[in-house]
Amino acid sequence: MWRDLEPIGRDADTRGYRRYAWTGADADCRAWFKAQADSRGLTYELDRNGNQWAWLGDPLAEGAVITGSHLDSVPDGGAFDGPLGVVSSFAALDELRARGTRFTKPVAITNFGDEEGARFGLACVGSRLASGQLTREAAYELRDGDGVSLPQAMEEAGHDPSTIGPDPERLARIGAFVELHVEQGRALDLSGDRVGIASAIWPHGRWRFDFHGEANHAGTTRLVDRRDPMLTYAETVLAARREAELAGAVATFGKISVEPNAVNAIPSLVRGWLDSRAADQATLDTVVSAIERAAKERAERDGVDLRVVRESFTPVIEFEHALRDEMNKILGGSVPVLGTGAGHDAGILSGAIPTAMLFVRNPTGVSHSPAESAAEDDCVAGVIALADVLEGLACR
Ligand code: GLV
Ligand code: MN
Ligand code: MN
Repeated sequence: MWRDLEPIGRDADTRGYRRYAWTGADADCRAWFKAQADSRGLTYELDRNGNQWAWLGDPLAEGAVITGSHLDSVPDGGAFDGPLGVVSSFAALDELRARGTRFTKPVAITNFGDEEGARFGLACVGSRLASGQLTREAAYELRDGDGVSLPQAMEEAGHDPSTIGPDPERLARIGAFVELHVEQGRALDLSGDRVGIASAIWPHGRWRFDFHGEANHAGTTRLVDRRDPMLTYAETVLAARREAELAGAVATFGKISVEPNAVNAIPSLVRGWLDSRAADQATLDTVVSAIERAAKERAERDGVDLRVVRESFTPVIEFEHALRDEMNKILGGSVPVLGTGAGHDAGILSGAIPTAMLFVRNPTGVSHSPAESAAEDDCVAGVIALADVLEGLACR
C-alpha cells in the first residue's frame, strides 16, 4: 500500500506531499482508496460530501464501526498524517480476516475529504459538512487562492456539489468511529510506548489579518511618509509569540500573502493567517484578543488599516470516556492517554457520534513536514491495536 501511495502528489524538490482537495493528486489518492476497497471485495461508496467509504457488511445496518482517516495533505506535508490511518485500517481488516473474525456489525473504512483545509482555508470540510457544522451555503462561499470556489472545484473533479450538506441518517447508523493517526508530538517517544489513546483536542482556530497600507516606491519614499503594512505584520508576529508564551498556548503565522509583492515597492496589503490553540477556551480567547490588540495599536502608529476575520474555529473536544476506557480495556489497560493540539475529523464528529483516536509513536514528533516519520514496528503495533479495537467493538 505504501509503495503505491508514495509517489502520489509528491514534490520532486521538497519531497513533501501536495495533495490538495479536488486536485489531480487528490483524485489519484481517491482512485487508490477505491482500488483497495475493490481488491478486498468491500462495498465502495462515495457520499454526497465527497467522503469515501469501504464497507464490510451492510452499509444500511445500524451500529456500524467505522475507522479510517484522510489522504489529503498540508503544503509539503509528510507521508503519515492521514494516510497512516487509512493504510492501517485496510491492514487491520486484513489482519482480522486472517484471524477469521466474525463481525456482528458492519465495519467501514473512510477517507474523509479535505481534512487539512490546505486549498480552501477551512479544515475538515468533509466531516463538517456531514455533521452540519458547515452549511451548504457557507461551503459554496469557500474559495482557493486562485479564486476557484469549492463547488467549482468539486464539479471540475467530477463530483456533483449540489447535494452537499448534513448527512444525519448516515451518522445515526454509526456506533463508533475510531481514527488512528501518527502522533504529532513526542509524548509516546518520551514515555516509551508505541501506541496511545487520545483524551482531548485543544480548541483551535484560524484568523486572517488584513493589513492595508499604501504602495509606494521603495527608493524614493521617505520613511516618515510611508504607510507600510509589513511593519505592522512583523510586530504582530512578535506579539503572537509573546502572548502565546505568556499563556502557555501556541500561536503561529505560517502563511502570508503580499501585494503587489515586489522587491522595490512598499506593500499595499499584507495578509497573514494566524493559527492559535490552547488547552482551554478562555486562554485561547485571551491570547487572540491580546494579539489583535497589539496589531491594532501598531496599525495606528503605522497608518495602516487592519481587518481581522475568524475563518474557522473548533471548540475543545473531550473524547467520550466510555469508548476511551473500553478501548484501553481491550488493549490491556495500560495504554497512555494523551491530549493533542492537532485537529482531526474524529474531533469534528465527536459531537454527533462516539469517536476515539489511537496515536502511533513518532520518534521526532515532527509533523506537517516531509521529515514526519514512524518506525515500521510501531506502525505494525498500531495496526494490531486497531484490529483488536475493531474486533472488540464490532463483535460484541
Ligand atoms: C490539522 O492537522 C491541524 O491540526 O491543523
Ligand atoms: Mn494534519
Ligand atoms: Mn491528520
